[in-house]
Amino acid sequence: MTDKAELIIGDQKLELPIISGSENERAIDIAQLRGKTGAVTIDPAFMNTASTKSAITFLDGEKGILRYRGIPIEQLAEKSKFVEVAFLLIYGNLPNKEQLDSFSTLLTRHSLIHEDMKRFFDGFPSTAHPMAVLSSMVCSLSTYYPEEHNFADKQSMDVTYARLISKVRTIAAYAYKKEIGQPFVYPQNHLRYCANYLNMMFSVPAEPYEVDPDIEAAMNLLFILHADHEQNCSTSTVRLVGSAKTNLYASVAAGILALWGPLHGGANQEVIEMLQLIQKDGGNVKKYVDLAKDKTSNFRLMGFGHRVYKNFDPRAKIIKTTADKILKKLGINDPLLDIAKELEEAALKDPYFVERKLYPNVDFYSGIIYRALGFPTDMFTVLFAIGRLPGWIAHWKEMNEDPTTKIGRPRQIYTGEVAREYVPLDQRK
Ligand code: ACO
Repeated sequence: MTDKAELIIGDQKLELPIISGSENERAIDIAQLRGKTGAVTIDPAFMNTASTKSAITFLDGEKGILRYRGIPIEQLAEKSKFVEVAFLLIYGNLPNKEQLDSFSTLLTRHSLIHEDMKRFFDGFPSTAHPMAVLSSMVCSLSTYYPEEHNFADKQSMDVTYARLISKVRTIAAYAYKKEIGQPFVYPQNHLRYCANYLNMMFSVPAEPYEVDPDIEAAMNLLFILHADHEQNCSTSTVRLVGSAKTNLYASVAAGILALWGPLHGGANQEVIEMLQLIQKDGGNVKKYVDLAKDKTSNFRLMGFGHRVYKNFDPRAKIIKTTADKILKKLGINDPLLDIAKELEEAALKDPYFVERKLYPNVDFYSGIIYRALGFPTDMFTVLFAIGRLPGWIAHWKEMNEDPTTKIGRPRQIYTGEVAREYVPLDQRK
């Protein structure tokens, strides 16, 4: 197979190198294009453009494959824990016992937030969306840890990564407690990552709280499934902001805001709201499938479709099975799960969805589990953010450690007015 592409622009012919990834994906390298021809490429929404090389996550949307650092998501979901997966994504390999212990110790040691930060929560209205609070608080961490990142000092960078992964849980739980008017619950060093988070969310000083091991396991699984997804909207945001040498906290705060959007992570909240709407409307699934197909309406089936997956999202498959299991274990019969299944079945049979290869994505069933675990709807995207954090950190680290990284700065094709004279106010029509 040739390793060059030929481009003809007018009477100019240019040879462009083709580079291959480790899974044989091919890309035409256009780095020399503008310098040699004056032309740029245009690819709105990056439908065909790789923004970077990356060794973190591989996904094949046609085949429904997802692997973190080469390991299939199905194996990680079955055998691993979130903290181990976080280490894998950030450092490239599964930790040995010693590495896992020291990473876990760092997470345990850095769970508290500065006492002054607790007062920040009082400044937000109780109606504030927790994603806005989470982003503001994560950005605020840069005021408490303003030191410049020094990549040569591995130990201090390790503390920075662990600090953020640990504190994000505390911040998320405090945002919830503030919203419902309950006292903040401090982290407990004897609890593991997910159990500690659940305890901060759901315990109250008035009575003892035992973390249910099934709920802890479900939390671990959901965080693992959300932990990375290569160059999606929020991760690309983290990379773009970070490419200006912006600190980790501010870069991740920007990623949280990108995730909030209903076309991205915010879809998990939208799915439940859509299912509730269908339920209120008598459970008429067909009506909503028809509405989603109607190009004169803005309605879309939330939790359906994906830029990259043109097949089953492997994460959605695992989450669907888990939803069934966890609801059964907890003895919960949620009518929204039945509506979701009916909706999926109707859509997957409908030629509109079949032709466009629209399948349930990661957000379709996750909200049903979060509801069963006791989380309110507006916390769903926050849970996604906690899970996605190791991925954001891994990408930010990969980019900053690559000496060839340059600031991200796309070009544009200008379509405005050509040069014209300034007209004084009294002469304007
Ligand atoms: N319901 C109805 N029609 C849809 C849906 C949907 N959920 N998704 C895509 N389509 C249709 C589009 O209208 C378009 O139809 P057309 O060819 O007749 O114009 C076609 O399918 C292709 O859709 P695009 O919007 O061009 O696909 P794109 O890759 O830009 O968007 C996206 C992907 C944003 C995920 C889209 O499928 C969507 O809006 N889904 C609903 C929101 C959602 O679930 N987001 C979460 C995604 S997963 C994540 O980010 C964590």
